[in-house]
Amino acid sequence: MSLTPDLIRWLRTAAARPWLDSVSAEPPGDADLLSVLTRLRRHLSPQQAAAVVETARLRQRAADKFPTTAARMFFSASLLQQASPAPVAAWTARRFRGQPWVGDWGCGLGGDSLALAAEAPVLAVDRDALSLALVQANAIALKMEHRIWPVWADSRIPPAHPPAIWADPARRGRLRRVFDPDSLHPPLHTLLAQRDHIPNMGIKLMPGLAHERVPPEAEAEWISWHGKLKEAVLWLGELCEQPGRCATLLPAQARIRSTGVEAPVEPPGEYLFEPDAAVIRAGAVADVAVRYDLWQIDPQIAYLSGHAAANTPFTRRWRILEHHPFDLKSLNRRLRALQGRVVAVKKRGSPIDPEAFRRRLYRHDQGRPLVVVLTRVLDRPTMLICEEKS
Ligand SMILES: C[S@@+](CC[C@H](N)C(=O)[O-])C[C@H]1O[C@@H](n2cnc3c(N)ncnc32)[C@H](O)[C@@H]1O
Repeated sequence: MSLTPDLIRWLRTAAARPWLDSVSAEPPGDADLLSVLTRLRRHLSPQQAAAVVETARLRQRAADKFPTTAARMFFSASLLQQASPAPVAAWTARRFRGQPWVGDWGCGLGGDSLALAAEAPVLAVDRDALSLALVQANAIALKMEHRIWPVWADSRIPPAHPPAIWADPARRGRLRRVFDPDSLHPPLHTLLAQRDHIPNMGIKLMPGLAHERVPPEAEAEWISWHGKLKEAVLWLGELCEQPGRCATLLPAQARIRSTGVEAPVEPPGEYLFEPDAAVIRAGAVADVAVRYDLWQIDPQIAYLSGHAAANTPFTRRWRILEHHPFDLKSLNRRLRALQGRVVAVKKRGSPIDPEAFRRRLYRHDQGRPLVVVLTRVLDRPTMLICEEKS
């Protein structure tokens, strides 16, 4: 269904609240959708009934991104998909602490505006009327209406010059995801051109951001949440702590910078370490190696190894039982000898499809859980047999 600004405003009225509260308490699944809609339509218009059900279902879906507030918030399916998860938004908003006020250029339903409002008053700009209705509804629902001013405007022509802005340009093209920052809405170059008037900026971009697109005076921060890469942010002006690239892992708040160091390259030792995706994207794999006394097993591959079970927040770790040149027959022989049950096949620098490959492996049903890693060691195709527990 399509929610409209009028329906969002209606959902906030005293007439709508009892219906929304009761359906939100137990949102219908696909099987009972029709019966719930039919019941609601005895009292509400078809559009109102659909808006109640849609909002209840979206609140349930939003619990991942807004763990403590989703049940009180308002969403549309597409803006929920584009919204920043609350814990990540809280992290990026912290850099705006101390600013007298800030602009949120393209506020959507307000995922970032709400987090920014905890740090400074926010001018929440969007050119989409539904976004503005949602950010307003969410500001009121979370008692932030005195800190968030929704404004209908095109952020390419700034309606004001705040001391600092946050911009989260829309990433979806009409048919598919866009990968070029200049194809975003608004494009990166348009936002960067506003620096004459607004020198302090945080610009959220796709995690695949190419290093060449990072201006030399900017800091690029790749952020992951529980190991999932979420975004890259360009920080400019006062919001830039140190020009260059860094990776931040949330919720641990662990950060490492890419300094251009080189890691030693040697064959595998006792442990295999897989860096977090944010570390890899930021180009900080060698920095993790040097900081924790590890080495790369191949100059081109983002796996590290070490003799000790180094405790680093930046990697996952497995104990290496054996490693051999790649060969399916000898792998199955070794798995049989180890009475193994391969719980995962991982790969880096190998063309093999891990799931199809796993089906061809020896399997002892109650066997020892093992992880097989297909990769390259000093440029040779290699398989590592690892233990899940470390
Ligand atoms: C990715 S969403 C923002 C999500 C938001 N940060 C959140 O966490 O909920 C991008 C938003 O930018 C808005 N937008 C795109 N181009 C714009 C423009 N030129 N002016 C103002 N808003 C724009 C879209 O309408 C959309 O709401």
